[in-house]
Amino acid sequence: MDMAPLYRRPVLNSVCLKDGRSLAYAYHSSPKKNAPTLLFVHGFPLDHSMWQEQIPLRGEANLLIPDLAGFGKSDPRPEPLTLGDLANDLAELLDRLDIPQVIWCGLSMGGYIGWEFVHQYRQRLTGLICCNTRSGADAEPVVRARKVAAAQVLGTGATPVADAMQEKLFSPSTHAENNDLVRQSHSVIQNTSSASIAAGQLAMAARKDSSSLLSTLSLPTLVIAGEHDSITTSSEMQEMAMLVDGATFVEIMNAGHLSPAEQPLVFNRAVTHWLDQIQN
Ligand code: MLT
Repeated sequence: MDMAPLYRRPVLNSVCLKDGRSLAYAYHSSPKKNAPTLLFVHGFPLDHSMWQEQIPLRGEANLLIPDLAGFGKSDPRPEPLTLGDLANDLAELLDRLDIPQVIWCGLSMGGYIGWEFVHQYRQRLTGLICCNTRSGADAEPVVRARKVAAAQVLGTGATPVADAMQEKLFSPSTHAENNDLVRQSHSVIQNTSSASIAAGQLAMAARKDSSSLLSTLSLPTLVIAGEHDSITTSSEMQEMAMLVDGATFVEIMNAGHLSPAEQPLVFNRAVTHWLDQIQN
């Protein structure tokens, strides 16, 4: 099968973490002098390839794009998994690559892990890009549904999850016009291990409410929403942005939950513009 350019996978590097697990990542260095490093953290249950269309941003920043533990080519962590564990892996990755500070760019679960990173490693951040995400914890019915889904996927395998996510991830126009993206993201999810999907669901279900961080962040913050996102709605994200002092809010038209991949030109323009603003 021909791979669409979007998902043509870059060469992945890997580090061996202190506990012996391998963590995979792509790194693109910027030709720009003193460029910041953007750390791209993927959503659930995807991998680094969802950021493929952001590679042109290397004109503005160094790009570090890992696969979280258990996803893509990275080894899983021992269970039970927490989002704090995933934040710790990324801090260790930064240590290993000798990168003192980054701008965190996380989508959905990647944003939830970002709050854990803020809690534990605030001094390593120079900015925050929150894409299609939220700061609150799950309501009780969502926690219950995640527990059921975690138990189910161990029996069914990943295909039903891929089918369900395919319906929810994209805007109507992406479904109509970008079949490659829809098909390739389905394939990434389908190839993810059931155990990692279950562990991810349980980790998200157990996450704490980080909303109290918003008013005390003191970090340049860009909040990006998708007009048709049904998982983390644009209005919910706008409310979140209003709680962060000085935050920039951008709504991307004709995008759903996977806005960076669905509308990459608009997304990349928003990031470039914001980077220019915070650096000048
Ligand atoms: C994601 O895209 O990471 C997930 O939809 C997040 C979630 O299930 O809350």
